[in-house]
Amino acid sequence: MSKTRKVGFTETVLRDANQSLIATRLPYSKFEPILETIDKAGYYSAEVWGGATFDVCLRYLQEDPWDRLRKIRKKMPNTKLQMLLRGQNILGYKHYPDDVVRKFVEYSIKNGIDIIRIFDALNDVRNLQVAIEETVKRGGHASGTICFTTSPVHTLEKNVQMVKELKQMGVKSICIKDMAGIMGPKESYDLVSAIKDAVPELPLVIHTHCTTGLAFMTCLKGVEAGADVLDTAISPMSGGTAQPATETLAYALRSLGYQVDLDDKVLIKMADFFKGVRADFIKDGTLDPISMATDTQCLNYQIPGGMLSNLISQLKMMNAIDKLDQALAETPKVRADLGYPPLVTPTSQMVGSQAVQNVLAGERYKVVGKEIKAYCRGEYGRTPAPIDPKIQKKILGDTPVVKGRFADSLKPEFEKTKKELGATAKSDEDVLSYIAFPQVAMAFFKDREAGFPKKDAPKKDTAAPAAKKESDLPPMPAWQGHVYYANVPASLSNGVNTRPIQPFAASYQPPHLVLAPKDTTPGTYTITIDGKPYAVSVAAADGPAPAAAPVAAAPAPSPAPAPVAAPAPAAVPAPAAPAAGETPVPSPMPGNVFKVECKPGQAVKAGDVLVVLEAMKMEIEVTAPVDGTVKSVVVAVGTAVNTDDLLVTLS
Ligand code: CO
Repeated sequence: MSKTRKVGFTETVLRDANQSLIATRLPYSKFEPILETIDKAGYYSAEVWGGATFDVCLRYLQEDPWDRLRKIRKKMPNTKLQMLLRGQNILGYKHYPDDVVRKFVEYSIKNGIDIIRIFDALNDVRNLQVAIEETVKRGGHASGTICFTTSPVHTLEKNVQMVKELKQMGVKSICIKDMAGIMGPKESYDLVSAIKDAVPELPLVIHTHCTTGLAFMTCLKGVEAGADVLDTAISPMSGGTAQPATETLAYALRSLGYQVDLDDKVLIKMADFFKGVRADFIKDGTLDPISMATDTQCLNYQIPGGMLSNLISQLKMMNAIDKLDQALAETPKVRADLGYPPLVTPTSQMVGSQAVQNVLAGERYKVVGKEIKAYCRGEYGRTPAPIDPKIQKKILGDTPVVKGRFADSLKPEFEKTKKELGATAKSDEDVLSYIAFPQVAMAFFKDREAGFPKKDAPKKDTAAPAAKKESDLPPMPAWQGHVYYANVPASLSNGVNTRPIQPFAASYQPPHLVLAPKDTTPGTYTITIDGKPYAVSVAAADGPAPAAAPVAAAPAPSPAPAPVAAPAPAAVPAPAAPAAGETPVPSPMPGNVFKVECKPGQAVKAGDVLVVLEAMKMEIEVTAPVDGTVKSVVVAVGTAVNTDDLLVTLS
């Protein structure tokens, strides 16, 4: 290998480092002053958009994500702007029809994106094809991405085969995306060598995370094997769950004789600026020092750290942390049963949750979430290896499996949605925001129409109105919060650690799993439902029953729907002895009500979905056990329920 070779850098501070360390909470106003400086640094590209930035802008930052992109473009005319796109899923997990994918790509490029890094959780190239095609058609640079994972079927040959297919599709570069920081220097060297042998003309990018501490070595060995570009973050926002530091790798590579075209003086200015940003986020608690540290446990268990902490949180919520051993042993078995999906969101949560379900139910695949069912039907794409046919049969019964590409079965959606939205959408970009995050975007449009509250308005812990947004909106997907790394009990140390591991702190609750404490704090709150404010008293479990009454000044609302405003678990009646001819439908597990699919008076058949719970990162359908009529629905969207809490009564 030639040592005078040039190595390029992609700066991730505005997207992945922002997402990994501070849950994407960096508002445009805060980083605007540094954009012109970043533009002078000499980066190969700057990753500024996609991933969680889009959702968080709409949901929390009162920012139009498209507008953010246009402003960055204006301030950074000399740097290639890059985004992350989840192929046929765009920014979420659901498959979108091709017309939506194409429009999203078209408008991303129109608003300023140069490079689109396109990946699929299952590495199914059919899920990348349309996004790549459209990127090429619109004059953009499509970067074809391999999600790195290890399994008996993920051989070098298989990866090389995928790279060749991506090249056929017209990608201008290849990225190895190591979501969890589990790719080591040896894997990096071998994989980069194999890919460079197969497609030497395509620039190769390495994307990894410092989580396990391997990243610098992984990057260096990758460069030695021929990698052309590294993803890095400016030092104050680097390390831990984010990328390795830009300045460190630039220094090391130069000293080894590689050409690095970054301007050190500019990097110093950037670092000074982001030290201030970091200090602010540490002060307000958004940046948890744990995210900045090295955690080697994912190496011990061979599962991503975020997944391990999810497993632990789920078991704790179910009062079953003593089953962690079994759940950890079950996880690789579930992954093998399901055809070795790469462990990246959402498959990591699906595999982890299913392992927990299998252990808790005492029977494998007795309780199966909606996502796993969809996965087994083939809705997520082709699995790397076949799913175990016996298990697939147990999960699906006679439900047919999707033949071919799932998106082919979807009807065009863009023009139809545009018509439906009418004047609510001010632009085609608004229509796309709505398609990607319907409830979140609608709340954003309303707030925008009303004029956003002042940024210096009282914070949510001192004023009631802020509760509105979060209670009205669907839960934020786990991947968009911090990636948390939990310690497991000392008894589970596999000998790699030389000192006992501290037990997972009992008081510690990852923000994306905040459930009961926030909702059960006694007091009086104002909750707005469909624009009408309701005063709600929330009592402690042994206190008086919660009451919901319209606020006096409210414009004559219809009688208050009590259950909606009663998120406290205490408010959910336990199933009393059923009256003759009545069938109570209890909750099979603790969780939150995600959807209510039935109304009082409605006739239902056995097997019809009554309520969808969100539990353990999955949607769990609760179905009617018998034919009947819905007598009462005692829960509403957002209600927290425990096992055996009454959901619906049938008569
Ligand atoms: Co990443």
